[in-house]
Amino acid sequence: MMVTMIKNFEAFKEFCLVHKNVKKCVLRADLNLPSGIEDLSRIYAIRDTVLDVLGMGLNVILISHYKRPSIEDVSNQKYSLRNIVDKVSRVLNEDVHFIGDSIFDIAPDSVNSKITLLENLRFYDGETKNDSKLAERLSKFGDVYINDAFSVSHRKHASVCAITEYLPSFAGYSLMREIKGISKVTSNIARPFTAIIGGSKISSKIEVLQQISKTADNLIIAGAMANTFLAATGVDMQKSLVEPDQFEMAKKILGESAADIVLPMDFLVAGDISEMGKNHGIHEIPEGFACFDIGGESVRAMSGIIGKSKTLLWNGALGAFEFSNFNKSSEVIAKFVADKTSNDGMISIIGGGETVASLGNYRDDMTFISTAGGAFLEFVAGYELPGVASLSSD
Ligand code: 3PG
Repeated sequence: MMVTMIKNFEAFKEFCLVHKNVKKCVLRADLNLPSGIEDLSRIYAIRDTVLDVLGMGLNVILISHYKRPSIEDVSNQKYSLRNIVDKVSRVLNEDVHFIGDSIFDIAPDSVNSKITLLENLRFYDGETKNDSKLAERLSKFGDVYINDAFSVSHRKHASVCAITEYLPSFAGYSLMREIKGISKVTSNIARPFTAIIGGSKISSKIEVLQQISKTADNLIIAGAMANTFLAATGVDMQKSLVEPDQFEMAKKILGESAADIVLPMDFLVAGDISEMGKNHGIHEIPEGFACFDIGGESVRAMSGIIGKSKTLLWNGALGAFEFSNFNKSSEVIAKFVADKTSNDGMISIIGGGETVASLGNYRDDMTFISTAGGAFLEFVAGYELPGVASLSSD
């Protein structure tokens, strides 16, 4: 969908100017904080929108899901958004009133604080079913709705889609930033365009791999998924993690790709992840050993390709970067990408919680860092996200 078709914050302001009776805004955030509750980037992401809505004199009713509680977990305090109220309050520098009761047991009119946070939406069976009764009830808490949760906009859920049937609906700043940022690797791409796709499993990234293999000039495959690609071509990966059921898919991607596919030529290997790794070529992996990071020659080859690129997409870890003995490639490549972005104007678009975590101190140097995981992959793969489509001006 074209960015111009989305009802953005400017449209929201115009709407409020005309409709003076608008007093409360239901704001869909994604407070499903990734990599532990200490990563507050998803709270920072909504700050501008929340503060501007407050600045317009409206109250904000924040709604969000948190993790994936099963039916037995409903009301389990481990999944309660109560646990992050203080953090939201600290980032916004405002008091946040939390309501833990069911939204069917409280009178929407009685909710009158400047900022209110309602309980985890996934405590309601209807949320993931895009249930209209739940959406209608949620809509009673406000006069308008803003979606500022790009990272959950690939879900056809009640608080993302069905609610837009009941309230005038707009996109927040963060959602628009995400779309504009990620669009740099989906349309009008500055070339050469290189993509690094890593992570452990091909099976979770098939669509994005297929799409990128059509649109990129170079596709660098790293992380444990590179093991599967190499094993599919007959390389003995010894005890490394591989997905044998993806060999056919790997061969298909290798055979049909319009992009030049670059696979590692060496790895850091060890008998166990707790040991120090030794550099070995792909045909010299010792018996009983496993690959935990890409090797020095592969890092040099990657840097050479990135060095000639004008746009870089990076999704997925290069190796087991959480272990200090296997974080070398992530460090070197993150620094290289940061330098190339700052000094040479390369466009670097990074997505996925794990990838962002592997950037260490280089995060601020990238062109755009997405807060999204699954939504990032679906958008890059060319899918229309239902939550974004619901905000169309059509
Ligand atoms: C995410 O973390 O990607 C979003 O919050 C969506 O969460 P979900 O995958 O549980 O729907």
